[in-house]
Amino acid sequence: MCGIVGYIGKGQAKPILLQGLKHLEYRGYDSAGIAVWGKNGLQILKTHGRVEDLSQQASTWEGEGNLGIGHTRWATHGKPSKKNAHPHISADGQVILTHNGILENYLQVKQTLQLEGWSFSSDTDTEVIANWLAKLFQLHNQDPIATLTDFLGQAQGSFALAILFRNFPNRLFALRKESPLVVGIGEGENFLASDLPPLLLHTRRVYYMENGEIACLQADKVAFYSDKGELLSKKAEEISWQTEKMDKGKYPHFMLKEIHEQPEAVARTLRYLREGGMDCAKHWLKNVEQLTIIGCGSSYHVGIALQYAIERLCQLPVRVELASEFRYREIPMQGLVVAISQSGETADTLAALRKAKKGGCATLAIVNVVGSAIAREADCALYTQAGMEIAVATTKAYLTQLITGYYLAVQLAVERGSIDVFQARCLLADLLDLPEKIKEILRQKEAIHRLAKRWKDMQYCFFIGRGMDYAVSMEGSLKLKEISYIPAEAYAAGELKHGAISLIEPGTLVCCVCTQEGVFDKMRSNMQEVQSRGGELLTISIPGGVACDICLPKTEEMFMASLSVIPLQLFAYFVSVERGEDVDKPLNLAKSVTVE
Ligand code: M6R
Repeated sequence: MCGIVGYIGKGQAKPILLQGLKHLEYRGYDSAGIAVWGKNGLQILKTHGRVEDLSQQASTWEGEGNLGIGHTRWATHGKPSKKNAHPHISADGQVILTHNGILENYLQVKQTLQLEGWSFSSDTDTEVIANWLAKLFQLHNQDPIATLTDFLGQAQGSFALAILFRNFPNRLFALRKESPLVVGIGEGENFLASDLPPLLLHTRRVYYMENGEIACLQADKVAFYSDKGELLSKKAEEISWQTEKMDKGKYPHFMLKEIHEQPEAVARTLRYLREGGMDCAKHWLKNVEQLTIIGCGSSYHVGIALQYAIERLCQLPVRVELASEFRYREIPMQGLVVAISQSGETADTLAALRKAKKGGCATLAIVNVVGSAIAREADCALYTQAGMEIAVATTKAYLTQLITGYYLAVQLAVERGSIDVFQARCLLADLLDLPEKIKEILRQKEAIHRLAKRWKDMQYCFFIGRGMDYAVSMEGSLKLKEISYIPAEAYAAGELKHGAISLIEPGTLVCCVCTQEGVFDKMRSNMQEVQSRGGELLTISIPGGVACDICLPKTEEMFMASLSVIPLQLFAYFVSVERGEDVDKPLNLAKSVTVE
């Protein structure tokens, strides 16, 4: 979703902002802009397009100076256009800002401001904030902190802001309510960003802004204030972990690179878990009577796959909920809640986690991004070691979430006595063998590419499976539709005849995932039903399963999802490439969904 960068210091703001925006591109956006303050006054440059276009335009642009803010916009209020791109400036020219999130009471505020004579030139809620802040700035005798605390007290929704006040040419202000913001500390310069990548180009000392906090950055110092305007004393954090370079290496797309990184990511995750990464969870695994898993998108699909594994291994009923639904459900809260999220910032998952905590549940998070809100707010965070994931379509984060969940399931089963230590060791050995098996599947890449070439022009398709294979089907269909725009639906194979089979006509593709021995016969019948109506099959199975187009190596049945998902990732990738789509940046999607 929208990305914010800010800079104040001894250097030129323009290149720093542009480079920062480049490092936020992966979040997803449709337009971009920067504002720089210096000897030519305040200059704003915007484009309805890529950061690359913005950089090109900026090469002949007069914006020079040591203070500035920048933005990548993912449209919420107002369609993607240059007019609606950020930064926005208040009608009186006093306030210049960029914004991530949604001001929920914007309509009512806009009407009031219009009646008072404030004019608007865009369709955004951001311009409403700019004018509102300008009005409050007048009301509070040009005191920025009083202005921002007053705003925080009245504004509804979730947002992060980077703000310049024209009468404070040596200060950059920031405000966080839900949407993430991090301040980076340099030598004679300071930085602001929605996420770490732009900051790590310059510094490893950061402050994570908390909800309701205001920051005032100057070149040589940073001050933080509470939502009441009190000066806060905060501790900077040192980013000690290794960060990867954001380049594609020998691969044409980040998605393909990330698919190939999976054997190493799985091995790294298992190493981390075995070396104590799960220690903080042990306490919470005692006496678990109810287990709920929450997440969105692919993270939710991981939850579904884990449900089958945990129920079988731990003899414990597991509930899996979409975080966006869970947060508004009226249900009794009990037991342990596991929140799954790559970014650790997904607004719905964060809200659902908070609801669970408020309801008295113990909370664990399976998260990839260290220091993210979900990681910090859960009672215990288990970090997947996927490394930075850039492609919007998740692959290695999904897989490492799954592996972490399997490991958790084994620990929980030992804790509950449903398996003994010897059985746990055998299961762990199976997990440790996975990286080699994943490599084996990756070697079938060309065969999968051929299948993708054959099916690239299909109008729609189905993914079917039973049990764990159904969970993987859900992920396969999401992968395909998000990057190739082909309508794809996942069905529990037994459900097909309860409705969707009416859509099967000659030539319809049905991808069948079939790895669970107990239901091979049932799957064969379902496949027959498809073929009898002229549907075509693409089968993913194991030796001894059904006749397969893609044959997987065997592992413990409960862990098969970690193998069967790989060909589905590759299939989606190659279909998208063959259709000429922008694989890493699918239309309308954002990597980190920080609004509802
Ligand atoms: O960062 P999260 O894991 O919380 O994100 C959840 C979903 O937005 C995410 O999995 C999304 O569905 C992916 N684009 C799927 O590839």
